[in-house]
Amino acid sequence: HPIEWQPDDGGKGGYAHFMLKEIHEQPRVLRENIGNWLTTEMSPKLRLLWNRLYQPPMILGCGSSYYAGLTARYFMEEMTSRPVRVELASELNHRPETPEAGRLVIGLTQSGETADTLNALNRLRQSGAGILAFANVVRSSVTRIADQTMLLRAGPEISVAATKTFTAQLVSLYAATLAAVGRDYNSNNGLEARLKELPALVQMSLDDTEEVIDAAQWLTGFSNVICIGRGAHYPIAMEAALKLKEVAYIHAEACSAGELKHGPLALLNSRTPVIAVFGSRDDTWETMLTAVREVKVRGAPVLALVPGDNASVRQLADRVISVPQADRRFQPAITAVTVQLLAYYTALALGCPIDRPRHLAKSVTVE
Ligand code: G6P
Repeated sequence: HPIEWQPDDGGKGGYAHFMLKEIHEQPRVLRENIGNWLTTEMSPKLRLLWNRLYQPPMILGCGSSYYAGLTARYFMEEMTSRPVRVELASELNHRPETPEAGRLVIGLTQSGETADTLNALNRLRQSGAGILAFANVVRSSVTRIADQTMLLRAGPEISVAATKTFTAQLVSLYAATLAAVGRDYNSNNGLEARLKELPALVQMSLDDTEEVIDAAQWLTGFSNVICIGRGAHYPIAMEAALKLKEVAYIHAEACSAGELKHGPLALLNSRTPVIAVFGSRDDTWETMLTAVREVKVRGAPVLALVPGDNASVRQLADRVISVPQADRRFQPAITAVTVQLLAYYTALALGCPIDRPRHLAKSVTVE
């Protein structure tokens, strides 16, 4: 994708909706963003902040951009062995101002125009932070606030619900982290190569949507859904709930699988299914299985999104969608695409106005 857009980029390219077209553009968008980051240098000021990490770096955004930050945090913390703060821009504006000299702030905004994000970044800059923005729109307002803007090279995103820019942000943060920890570390651990596998894995999920379409049909029978996840897949469960609300008008709430027993279990019955967003077979796996068992005991149906084929989950869940298996650290980017497809096909089956949901705007320029 060139940075400057052509008039033709705004067409549906034969797809029924912009959302579906944009979902399908992800292999190319991811490839370009990964390649771009692994060869681009941060400005000297930001690199100094990143390398010294005087204070924990902070990521902020709204909506799906915020969830991309929440997801990337797990990888960034694992790679740098340092805490990473992630904040909702709209809430940060109501917190007391603190001195921010020496802090790197990463602002995520597809449009570059979201008022809450711009205000938060302005305040942080005035308090001394160095600002790195990830934005998709050239010459958008955020570029005038940030010390450096990395363009997402996703091409125009017309559908109100963010799809390709969510995964573009996520892989850009992955790649930026790899760039920061250094080439030697990556080549020793093969991480760069594993990251470069993602576009092909996304293509695999786009090529085989049978289980997704079947599950979407099934979901149309429900009006309340709980989405659960753990670790880096907890924010993917949040993104699933947001997408179902936005495009399919299904009331969906996300909770950490560990928090089910602190309240949400009370909502479960045969009419309230749980979407269980599994990560890889890491330390979250067993706790997710336990959560699914707890849900089943309460009589609620379960739709499980699972990397690779998995017999133990198939035995428990009512419906399973197999997600192509990536390196455990990058799995969220692949599962996110399945989540987008699930929301899209559910909305399609329900006859919703997918690209222009009621009451929502693509960029929210008011506080
Ligand atoms: C709106 C859009 C969302 C988006 C959010 C943040 O609510 O409908 O899809 O995630 O704004 O937008 P931004 O442009 O700042 O990423």
